[in-house]
Order: sequence, then structure tokens, then C-alpha cells
Amino acid sequence: MGSARIEILDQGEFQAEEGELLLREALRNRIGFPYDCNSGGCGSCQFELVSGGVEDAWSAAPGLSERARSRGRRLACQSRVTGDCAIKVRLKPEFVPTHPPALHSARYEGCRPLTSDMAEYRFRCDGSADFLPGQYAMLRLPGVSGDRAYSMSNLPNADGLWTFIIKHISGGQGSGVLAEKIRPGDLIGLDGPYGLSFLRPDADHDIVCIGGGSGISPLKSICSAAVRHPPLDNRTIHLFYGARTPSDLPIDRTFREDPQLAERVTVVPAISEASHGTSWSGETGMIHEVLHRWLETVGDAKRFEYYFCGPPPMIDAVRRLLQIDLRVPETQLHADSFV
Ligand SMILES: Cc1cc2nc3c(=O)[nH]c(=O)nc-3n(C[C@H](O)[C@H](O)[C@H](O)COP(=O)(O)OP(=O)(O)OC[C@H]3O[C@@H](n4cnc5c(N)ncnc54)[C@H](O)[C@@H]3O)c2cc1C
Ligand code: FES
Repeated sequence: MGSARIEILDQGEFQAEEGELLLREALRNRIGFPYDCNSGGCGSCQFELVSGGVEDAWSAAPGLSERARSRGRRLACQSRVTGDCAIKVRLKPEFVPTHPPALHSARYEGCRPLTSDMAEYRFRCDGSADFLPGQYAMLRLPGVSGDRAYSMSNLPNADGLWTFIIKHISGGQGSGVLAEKIRPGDLIGLDGPYGLSFLRPDADHDIVCIGGGSGISPLKSICSAAVRHPPLDNRTIHLFYGARTPSDLPIDRTFREDPQLAERVTVVPAISEASHGTSWSGETGMIHEVLHRWLETVGDAKRFEYYFCGPPPMIDAVRRLLQIDLRVPETQLHADSFV
């Protein structure tokens, strides 16, 4: 396959490999192309195709309506480059990647179970693992159509180690391969890093993390980095984590087994199905409700930097609470919706 010239009207151009996805090629070229999920679900990577063609990698992607498609719009994360083309999109400097993503060959080393349906998976690549705590990578798994996004749970390192806390979704293709088929020594594709929901070490605020399900993965990375960053020594760090039942909580094997996390991070676990937790004496209810109750006791919600990751309904509820009800500025909110 050759290379194609992509013209971004009034804003420049770049060379992209034919057969590759437009969004990833733009980011590899340090172009500030807006995006979020990289998985076809959110619609934030939409652009207008002015001339030339691209091929749909996933024509049923829910992030693009038929109406938008008929007006010439496409999803950059699901558009394969097939030749020269001209597009319209408003580039934004905050999307220029600090570490341009690259495709690596990753060897699966093994996993350790955290709950009945979540485990932390280890992969090793040549070279260093360069990413910002809170970012994610796209995993290319055998027999699975389309890559899957998974957030790193470890810290950037020189040893090429990438770890991910992944929840096994019943009937899910990607998480099913990981839970049931992959064997130590197997090679997969790992493309990353991606994402903007990373730790802001320069933000002048205490830190609040909110997670549900496998949303614990990037939050573990963010908190691990925060507790090891001396300028943040005087910050408080809270983690609000919601699960259905006490046995779904992965806290003991993540936040409580690392002495630095155990000492610095105040973990507030909550369960939503109280009937399952007859001996449960902690918080109950949806995690945004628990957060809301706590914020009412501390007063000013605007004095925190918020990181929240997990299922879309949880992300929407937390965002509504913080941004609309409590008027926290958007610049203090960093979220990944696991669409
Ligand atoms: C930014 C981000 C970070 C995430 N981090 C984590 C994490 O750390 N841990 C975790 O457990 N989960 C994470 N997820 C969710 C994860 O990516 C998967 O959606 C989840 O594991 C279910 O995938 P599945 O293949 O098992 O299920 P499936 O039902 O087979 O697939 C679900 C997802 O795969 C994508 N998809 C489906 N078909 C196609 C196709 N043909 N082409 C391209 N894409 C397709 C869609 O995004 C869909 O939502 C994250 C999601 C996002 C967006
Ligand atoms: S980034 Fe393309 S649909 Fe979300």
C-alpha cells in the first residue's frame, strides 16, 4: 500500500498510509484532530469529506447518524484511507498528542484476577511504554472485528510493560478473547497511546476520581502517578468507586495492596444492590449520588480536579451533577466513557 495526501481545508495537509484509519494517521502526524472514544461510539471525530474517498471500517458505528452521513460527514476513527482526499474539520491544539501513537507488537504475559469478572492483563512490547497516566491503547485481538480500547492501569515505564484492567462482558468479542482464548506468549497488536483524560499534575486542585466497573483501570494509573509526584504531596486524593455488590469491588487487589496508594488515597466504595450486601456497612446507592452527598458536606465542588471513567450512564450522571448542577468548569473535568 502507498501513501496518500490528506488536505485539511485551510489548515494544512499530511501524508497517511493507505489502508490505515484516518484519525490514527492524523495523530501519528501530530495533527490536533478532535476525538474521544476512538471506537465509533461518541461522534466527536466527525469530519466533512469534501473530495476523494475513504472506506468505512465499521459502517454500523453508532457515532454517525444516517442524516449526518448523507450530508457527507464521516467518522475519522472508522474511515480507512484509500487515496488522496480533502476534508473539513476544525483542528484543536489540545488534541495534538504528547506521545504520538504507534502500533506495537505486544506479547501477552498473563493476568491476575481481581473479581469474578475483572482481571489485570500484562503485555510486553519492545522499547519503552510511553503514555500519560489515564490514557488508553487500542488492542487488535485475533478473530475480533475492529480494535478495542483499553486503559492502561500501570505507569509509563522503560520496560515496555502495558497493563490493563478488563471486565469480561458476557457475549463480548474482545473481552471474551482475553478472558477465554489468549495464552501467555501470544502476540497481539497494541496501538497507542490515545485519550485526553490523563492526570493534570499542574492543576492547582485536590483530586477526586470517580469510577465504576473497569473504570478502575485508568484511575489506578492516575492515582499511582499522583502519589509519586512530589509537587502533589499536599493534595488530598479521593476515589469514589461504585459496584453492584461487595464481591464486585476490586479495591483490595488494586488500591489497598500498593502501600503508597493505601496511605494517600481515601477510597469510598459504594454498592448499588444493597440487598446483596447484608453485612455491608459502607455507602450504598449510585456512585454519583454518593459523590453528591459527600460534596454537600465539603462545600465548594469547584476546588477539585475530577477524573471519571466507566460505563456511559455513570459518566453522564456524574457530568450532569458536576457541570450542570454544581457548575464546575469543564476544564476541571476529565472523563472517559467506555462506550
Ligand atoms: C476510551 C475507552 C477506554 C476503555 N477502557 C476500558 C478498560 O480499561 N477496561 C475495560 O474493560 N473496558 C474498557 N473500555 C471498553 C472496551 O473498549 C470494550 O467496549 C468492552 O471491553 C466490550 O468489548 P467486547 O469486544 O467484549 O464487546 P463487543 O460487544 O463485542 O464490542 C463492544 C465495543 O466494541 C466496538 N466495536 C464493536 N464492533 C466493532 C467493529 N466492527 N469495528 C470497530 N469497533 C467495534 C464498539 O466500541 C463497541 O462498543 C474502554 C472503552 C473506551 C471507549
Ligand atoms: S472518536 Fe470516533 S466516534 Fe468517538
